[in-house]
Amino acid sequence: MKNTINRQWWKEGIVYQIYPRSFQDSNGDGIGDIKGIINRLDYIKSLGVDIIWLNPVYESPNDDNGYDISDYQNIMGEFGTMADFDELLQGMKERGLRLVMDLVVNHSSDEHQWFIESKSSRTNPYRDYYHWWPAEKGTPPARWSYFDVEGNAWKYDETTDAYYLHYFSVKQPDLKWENPKLREEIYKLMRFWFDKGVDGFRMDVIPFISKDINYPELPASYNGNFVPFYADGPNLHTYLNEMNKEVLSKYDVMTVGEAPGVSIDQALDFVDEDREELNMFFHFDLMALDREADEVFLMRKDAWKLTEFKKIHTDWDVAFAKKGWGSMYLSNHDFPRSVSRWGNDSRSFWYDSATMLQTFLLSMRGTPYFYYGDEIGMTNIRFDRITDYKDINTLNRYETIKQQGGDTAAFVENEKEASRDNARTPMQWDDTQNAGFTSGRAWLKVNDNYKEGINVESQHTDKTSVLNYFRKMVQVRKSHLGLIYGDYTLLLENHEEVYAYTRTFEEERYLILLSFSTSKTTVKVDEINFKEARLLISNDEDQAEILKRDPTFKLKPYQAVIYKLH
Ligand code: GLC
Ligand code: CA
Repeated sequence: MKNTINRQWWKEGIVYQIYPRSFQDSNGDGIGDIKGIINRLDYIKSLGVDIIWLNPVYESPNDDNGYDISDYQNIMGEFGTMADFDELLQGMKERGLRLVMDLVVNHSSDEHQWFIESKSSRTNPYRDYYHWWPAEKGTPPARWSYFDVEGNAWKYDETTDAYYLHYFSVKQPDLKWENPKLREEIYKLMRFWFDKGVDGFRMDVIPFISKDINYPELPASYNGNFVPFYADGPNLHTYLNEMNKEVLSKYDVMTVGEAPGVSIDQALDFVDEDREELNMFFHFDLMALDREADEVFLMRKDAWKLTEFKKIHTDWDVAFAKKGWGSMYLSNHDFPRSVSRWGNDSRSFWYDSATMLQTFLLSMRGTPYFYYGDEIGMTNIRFDRITDYKDINTLNRYETIKQQGGDTAAFVENEKEASRDNARTPMQWDDTQNAGFTSGRAWLKVNDNYKEGINVESQHTDKTSVLNYFRKMVQVRKSHLGLIYGDYTLLLENHEEVYAYTRTFEEERYLILLSFSTSKTTVKVDEINFKEARLLISNDEDQAEILKRDPTFKLKPYQAVIYKLH
């Protein structure tokens, strides 16, 4: 049967995420900037990726590194100017690269003009741009906050004797989407960027924009998973649909929502084409796999199993098999490095596991998202001292534990694997000082392993590097439509060491074998006819075993292989 596919550039594209603060400093102040990115556009192009997702570059006091925006239509001074931004966009267009920006509109900065007005008096025209609870009604019903030392999302403000809501830090007050004037402001700023030629938005914590603003007391079943109780509110889909009608539908752009707390059965409500809301979203099921239940920043005590990993991806593939489209990611600026987390960054397994994970993302259905540095296998830095951290999430949680007399040493151990700063260390360009990131003092320490081959320059000239494998694998995906649109079928479902699946598209069929093991494994794939099998790629030089066309495979540790079966 012929597959019916709806071809789109954002389905066929490969996304490269840039955390601008850490990518390339151009003026020696230790902070990455837009000029730095411009200087590296040829490198980005050389990867074969198509779309850059840029974390926030808007004006911000940087309480949460740009996720607290004080002016949505200006560029942060540390990153450069609007002229720099325009030059970046132009440089990208010239190279056929698309730009996706971050849209952070669940909250703004408390230094945004809207909030300054809003808090100035109860009758200010901007009062209703934020969520206020007048103190005469008593203490507001408990709501938890991510980055608040007391864990309290309500902050009392004397000027108007009222509390404002902040799901993140006290400097990130939540915007009130119930107010149509606020929504119009947001649509306006979106149009501003689209009119400049921006190609889409990644939408920060998008299910949080609608909440039950009667703030009912949390039910007794509340067990730390607060999202269903205070996000995903009654108007969420009305707002997304309105945004689509007012703005998105007027441009050829892509959208991907960040969707903590959204489960598989809600998936199509966001991305079913007929509903006209978003194109894609990031689910959090994988991000929760190595964490304690409902504690997304706490490492799980026992190890995660490969069968669990497979089940998550298989279930989500099914969710989008007929409608909608998935997004595939293993890392981003909020989670540790991919190879350290899902692979193995010890010397003996680093190369194989980094390239195996790349093979995985690039052979699944759904748009693949790579985080800067994953193309060269950058690893967790694992700071020993709390003073090395810069992230508000780590620092404030440390403070909470300290104030409660908790185990701060255990917390620092946890952060070695879990902290967001693991992913935010500067890009490793070469083996000169600071890995070529800055001539000054880097805002966050550079990982020393840039001296040991984890840098772009040395990998560029090494044919068998993680970087050059990435480039090769990108071309494999791009030259085989079946790897993008083909149906996915899981094989060896219960195997704990090998992830095996096929992708089938019209006459094409592929077999993907991925070892997640530190030992050699043998697998037998009976369902497959190997007569015409052709090896497309392997991360291992020695190909004798895989070329023998036998359903029994001996895989080396972390080996990755793709066959074209016919
Ligand atoms: C999202 C961002 C994260 C930020 C938070 C608050 O989860 O990815 O970096 O801290 O929202 O804006
Ligand atoms: Ca700089």
